[in-house]
Amino acid sequence: MEGYKSFLCFLACSLVLGFLAVLLALVWVFHWREGLGWDGGPAEFNWHPVLMIAGFIFIQGIAIVVYRLPWTWKCSKLLMKFIHAGLHCIALILVVVSLVAVFDFHNAKSIPNMYSLHSWVGLTLAILYAMQILFGLLVYLLPFAPLSLRKSLMPLHIYSGIFIFGTVIATALMGFTEKLIFSLKSPLYSTSPPEATFVNTLGFLILIFGAFVLWMLTRPQWKRPPETNSKLQPPPGETLDCTENESTATDCSNADKSDVEFNSEAAARRRKLDEAGQRSTM
Ligand code: HEM
Repeated sequence: MEGYKSFLCFLACSLVLGFLAVLLALVWVFHWREGLGWDGGPAEFNWHPVLMIAGFIFIQGIAIVVYRLPWTWKCSKLLMKFIHAGLHCIALILVVVSLVAVFDFHNAKSIPNMYSLHSWVGLTLAILYAMQILFGLLVYLLPFAPLSLRKSLMPLHIYSGIFIFGTVIATALMGFTEKLIFSLKSPLYSTSPPEATFVNTLGFLILIFGAFVLWMLTRPQWKRPPETNSKLQPPPGETLDCTENESTATDCSNADKSDVEFNSEAAARRRKLDEAGQRSTM
């Protein structure tokens, strides 16, 4: 892989930032707020930022770069799809629990729902994310969609993935600001009390995490290399001409070819067996 050390550096920094963000969110809610609980009170609300950061930001961020980890390139594409989809599903579950927590808290305290820009954008993203996962499972994991459809929908899949991830980070930053404005009355947010500085720092770490993930995701040289073309058997009427590079983010050709579940290692092994067989008959 070209620039392997640099990739490792970005990955390590992203992992550290992601873990740190989840940890700092926990420190925030336990040290400055009411901790975690499920009683309709502020402790229930606190699940909202913690689970959004863990699921929608950290786990989603890892899920979208997982194909780029060079040590997974020897694994079959199908296995990588399961890991990619599995991480997204775990993230979605955390997102749903986090939303239930905030709606439940609002209802218990008779606070209106869905009045802020944060809530509009946030709910839209959660719905888009669920649709993106469903669409991904139907088109790319189940074996029914024809290769041509998989190929033509890949740019949309990639675009929505990047759009959702980037916008989730912006939404979290809106959420931090709102929460600090609502909760810091004395001393006021504008007087920069320690809690405000702490949460602003947390927001900044999340922003840098997002920037690193998007950098890894958009380097063409860090894409998972295509499987070997020569042995692929496309269904009648389909072609495996996946030479287009319409995106630098994810390799469409991989998505298509791998469904034929033909991996270069298997091909090499088979060739060796053939050769050994030929030799033994000589
Ligand atoms: C409320 C989504 C992160 C703070 C909401 C609501 C949604 C939402 C849909 C509306 C709940 C209702 O109306 O009952 C999201 C998404 C996030 C996210 C998708 C993904 C990152 C955060 C973070 C914080 C936060 C990190 C930081 C504390 C708030 C606050 C409310 C709220 C204070 C209540 C006020 C309001 O409705 O705007 N969120 N949220 N959110 N969220 Fe978030």
